[in-house]
Amino acid sequence: MQVKPPEHFCCHRFHPRTKATGLQQPDSDRVGAAGVGDPYFPTMGNGGYDADHYDLRLDVDPANNHLTASCEMKARALQDLDAFNLDFRNFDIAHITVNGTEAKFQREGGELTITPEQPLLAGQDFSVKVDYAGNPVPYESSHAPITIGWNPTDDGGSYVLSEPDGSSTWYPVNDHPRDKATYKFYVTVPNDYQAVCNGKLVEKSPLGEDKTTYVWDAQDPMASYLSTVNVGKFEEQLQTGPEGVPIHNFFATPVAKKAKKDFERVPEMMEWFSNRYGKYPFETYGNLVINANVGGAALETQTRPIYERGMVTGDKRAEYIYAHELAHQWWGNSTSVENWKDIWLNEGFANYSHMQWKHEHDGSFKKLDRAMYQMYMFLPRNSPPVVDPGENDMFSENVYNRGAVTLHLLRKDLGDETFFNCLKTYGEQYRGKNVTTDDFIAVVNTVSGQDKTEFFDRWLRQSKLPPWPGNPLG
Ligand code: TRP
Ligand code: ZN
Repeated sequence: MQVKPPEHFCCHRFHPRTKATGLQQPDSDRVGAAGVGDPYFPTMGNGGYDADHYDLRLDVDPANNHLTASCEMKARALQDLDAFNLDFRNFDIAHITVNGTEAKFQREGGELTITPEQPLLAGQDFSVKVDYAGNPVPYESSHAPITIGWNPTDDGGSYVLSEPDGSSTWYPVNDHPRDKATYKFYVTVPNDYQAVCNGKLVEKSPLGEDKTTYVWDAQDPMASYLSTVNVGKFEEQLQTGPEGVPIHNFFATPVAKKAKKDFERVPEMMEWFSNRYGKYPFETYGNLVINANVGGAALETQTRPIYERGMVTGDKRAEYIYAHELAHQWWGNSTSVENWKDIWLNEGFANYSHMQWKHEHDGSFKKLDRAMYQMYMFLPRNSPPVVDPGENDMFSENVYNRGAVTLHLLRKDLGDETFFNCLKTYGEQYRGKNVTTDDFIAVVNTVSGQDKTEFFDRWLRQSKLPPWPGNPLG
């Protein structure tokens, strides 16, 4: 989330998007489509197969900001395929194999088209391995609030933040949250660096005299934009969440001491949210503070959110941001958007969550209510709608704030018990799956036994801001 009103928001900049071209247009129905069909991102993701798992092997040379890598995707063909696409930008590709046999490929823009020697049959499991190398190039996406992709830190290392469309700038991927997969990372770094990714650190083994390979296993299916590999110098800390959830923190060494203080209430926070939202949805958790400032942003990278160095202060000033990224594990990570136009299901929910932590956990419901009223008062009277705000307004303040106000007013209307039952049911029913706004509304209507369709319509789908119900001072 953003700390300050971001002058670097990109909504007013124009970046032409790489368009699908003639190259991969099917002249037969045996060629996978170049996009999954998300209107905001016509070439994001691909058709014709379902990715199941990625094995990513990266040998990182921080001194030269260079990667020698291979990515093996295990997938299942959903149709007969003479050719299919991955999303991938930059780097030199050494070669590609499909089921172990050398395959032909072509590249155009962000699309990599692979033609296996043997066509794939509908229902067939297959694996595709891409060997590549080069210098990662940070990605200026018109959809993201800051520069995304693989970026350098201030200590010679690197970090990766990719929401929404940066993952294809560091590995070949079916880059859309509709196609979640498990991941295993094998990251080799010089001995004076560590590698930190999603999931659990399962192995750390020396490679020759000077290098170490870190193996990270991310077993909970994950949207590609939430995958991350970070190289740096960190102090590790272990905490334990509710029901024994391991919390493995990595704090950039210059701020590690203060970070231990700042993050000390995270287990309590996880327990508090678990009581409201249901069981924490993943096998593991942990916070990562990088040695860089990135424009006041943090990202909810799955099981291991990333914070810039400036979000460590020693006096818990940015604790609400830790609450925000933790809440995303339920809202956005476990339940993933089916289409990016529903991004309020991530940001409105996470925003309301950190408001609850800050004003209600550390205050009272009355204080929260006042804070939400104040948030309401700052909302524009007319704005792009919260659902489907337009592809360059996905991360606008209005999506966060009007989304959060909507949830607060729903809560006041339904009462705490029914409201949190709605959230628990929604989280459970769609755990690890994809969601739309209509899915959420359907759960609310069913659990509450009321028809809230019109309420959501006014708050989320109209540009005019509805009046605050009742007396705000009462
Ligand atoms: N999802 C982030 C949040 O917690 C905001 C965000 C979107 C972001 N794209 C990003 C942060 C890229 C860092 C990098 O609100
Ligand atoms: Zn957020």
